[in-house]
Amino acid sequence: MSYETILVEQRGAVTLVTLNRPQALNALNSQVLSELLGAMRAFDADPSQGCAVLTGSEKAFAAGADIKEMQAQGFADMYGHDFFAGWDVFTRTRKPIIAAVSGFALGGGCEVAMMCDFILAADTAKFGQPEIKLAVTPGMGGSQRLARAVGKAKAMEMCLTGRMMGAEEAERAGLVSRVVPAAELVEDAVKTAATIASMAPLAVKANKEMVNAAFETTLAQGVAFERRLFHAMFGTADQSEGMAAFVEKRPGNWTGK
Ligand code: CAA
Repeated sequence: MSYETILVEQRGAVTLVTLNRPQALNALNSQVLSELLGAMRAFDADPSQGCAVLTGSEKAFAAGADIKEMQAQGFADMYGHDFFAGWDVFTRTRKPIIAAVSGFALGGGCEVAMMCDFILAADTAKFGQPEIKLAVTPGMGGSQRLARAVGKAKAMEMCLTGRMMGAEEAERAGLVSRVVPAAELVEDAVKTAATIASMAPLAVKANKEMVNAAFETTLAQGVAFERRLFHAMFGTADQSEGMAAFVEKRPGNWTGK
């Protein structure tokens, strides 16, 4: 499949997706969405692929939803088409996706990064929800995911003032898992993704599903959900193989069964 606004590359079991609209700082328009939908669905369905990395350019992961595309829209268009609803593809993908963020991750860019399973940030990364400066609000889940990631005080300040948060502050606040030098970002993300892709596939899906459940359930429900999924792992061939491999001091040989 050929795309115009994204680049898709397979590096072993890792799918590397690069946003590629440099003239608009990777602003997210309908074409980017429809191409990403195709790429992410293909990734999720491909048994040779275990983890994806979503990245942008050195200057911008993505500077937001495309303001020029939204400018002339009215309520009936936005509500009628449930504008932005398609972006939750990143939350429905069952295999993990790492956002590798360098430069600006603003508005929809920050929101897409937060929909991924975790964010690795370059030391140049800048996160923000500047929609208020356009007299609107976040629309792809930013107010909800940012508040859950960094707490009410920082989320509220960022949404109300539109100020950007640098990489170090983002790491301190828990928005990103690690900060790495910009020049090493993509290689580090691909290496991290390869580590995940080398794990037993069902255990990867189960771990992702249970961590995400922490944001949707009470503690007691989440803990019960975790325990049931843990029990379910004992119905897999890879659990027998993984524990045998540990005892026999050799690497596991996964079948995904
Ligand atoms: N939509 C459309 N085009 C955009 C864009 C966006 N979000 N962000 C940047 N661009 C375009 C600019 O219009 C410019 O195009 P032209 O050369 O044709 O004028 C090009 O990208 C380069 O941008 P700048 O010249 O502005 O670059 P800069 O280095 O001076 O500034 C920036 C960088 C601070 C990120 C600035 O571009 C900016 O503020 N962008 C908008 C950020 C924003 O408001 N994002 C939120 C969008 S709304 C949203 O995302 C809603 C939601 O909840 C999903």
